[in-house]
Amino acid sequence: MSGNTSQLKVGDKTVDMAIKEGSVGPAVIDIAKLYAQTGMFTYDPGFTSTASCESQITYIDGDAGVLLYRGYPIEQLAEHGDFLETCYLLLYGELPTAAQKADFDYRITRHTMVHEQMARFFQGFRRDAHPMAVMVGSIGAMSAFYHDSTDISDPQQRMIASMRMIAKVPTLAAMAYKYTVGQPFVYPLNSLDYTSNFLRMCFAVPAEEYKVNPVLSRALDRIFILHADHEQNASTSTVRLAGSSGANPFACIAAGTACLWGPAHGGANEAALKMLEEIGTVDNIPKFIAKAKDKNDPFRLMGFGHRVYKNYDPRAKIMQKTTHEVLNELGIKDDPLLDVAIELERIALSDEYFIEKKLYPNIDFYSGITLKAMGFPTSMFTVLFAVARTVGWIAQWKEMIEDPSQKIGRPRQLYTGSPKRDYTPIGRR
Ligand code: CMC
Repeated sequence: MSGNTSQLKVGDKTVDMAIKEGSVGPAVIDIAKLYAQTGMFTYDPGFTSTASCESQITYIDGDAGVLLYRGYPIEQLAEHGDFLETCYLLLYGELPTAAQKADFDYRITRHTMVHEQMARFFQGFRRDAHPMAVMVGSIGAMSAFYHDSTDISDPQQRMIASMRMIAKVPTLAAMAYKYTVGQPFVYPLNSLDYTSNFLRMCFAVPAEEYKVNPVLSRALDRIFILHADHEQNASTSTVRLAGSSGANPFACIAAGTACLWGPAHGGANEAALKMLEEIGTVDNIPKFIAKAKDKNDPFRLMGFGHRVYKNYDPRAKIMQKTTHEVLNELGIKDDPLLDVAIELERIALSDEYFIEKKLYPNIDFYSGITLKAMGFPTSMFTVLFAVARTVGWIAQWKEMIEDPSQKIGRPRQLYTGSPKRDYTPIGRR
């Protein structure tokens, strides 16, 4: 490395590559011309050393356990702000003034209803469909229902599509839940704030009056803030890659939702709770720890480890506090799952295997217990993650579309298949 360039020696060629500095965090080596200069690609499966884009939205320092949205620490946003303020911040880059916030809240609230025909669209799903399957389908279907905001070259349409998704994804999520439990859909109520409205759409029934519990609403709002964005994770990269071809924003967010569903990503909260239930009692923990450490056993402790955090996930700390607030509010004193979780965390944090591999509890470790206490079935956990992450996906998609240097994402490969060979007729094989 010399000055702000680095050199790579390939055979007898030496190639100069520019080093680009970020505002904080590691610099990057610009390899865009590497193939033209050397005839070689770089190889980095899983992108462990590759920055796929330039972004001004979210910063993570995984070693220090730091997460910033537009420069603001997640702890401060979760403590003092609300989810729609975080949405505004992620989308526009600055915290809103009181007037901007009131206007934004008003506009999002007025977009919460979905086209009435969507209710019919839902009837096509099996009642026992996983709500994430319903989310992937219904978010994708938004491009058919809101075709007037799919022209990505029009900034006004981009803005309306963004508003529509932030406002309507919770409505679709609540409908997905209601559909699986066989209850009527509950229309949004504009007098309620975003998260209270969502709770009401999930848990109210026409036969009874529903009173929102402010402690639960605040807790869920905080969970939404914690999940709102996480820089270039798998689902966000999926949204960017899908969007790089010029696909419409609803289709891109549907692609991100599909990616989020996987157990190594957004599906981990569901998997973590199932694991705690499977462990059942504190006595069984050593058996499961041994399984997690066994190289020949594919079992992993769900809710532990992270690709980027090699320290305590800062979101997990806030989540742990929120869990206790919710359990206290609901009068749940002796939850066996919580006992298992606390003991598992204690053992894992003092076990050499987990210390050496820097496997700390991640956000999903506690969010499952909290959401279960609130009354959500495990199948809804990833759906709630999708509700919160929608704004992050949109902010990242918008940043990419508005970047004049944006081009279609097209990774290359190291081909290890058969070299060219001739076709053999079927009778001679
Ligand atoms: N339990 C036991 N061992 C683990 C675990 C775990 N949860 N996670 C990683 N390891 C081991 C792994 O076996 C490997 O060991 P070795 O070096 O001996 O082969 C080492 O730690 C490194 O693992 P890796 O798979 O190379 O690490 P990664 O960065 O590719 O994986 C991860 C990150 C999150 C996919 C992984 O830690 C995992 O599968 N965790 C459980 C699932 C989970 O909780 N996911 C939620 C992530 S946070 C929510 C989100 O942002 O989406």
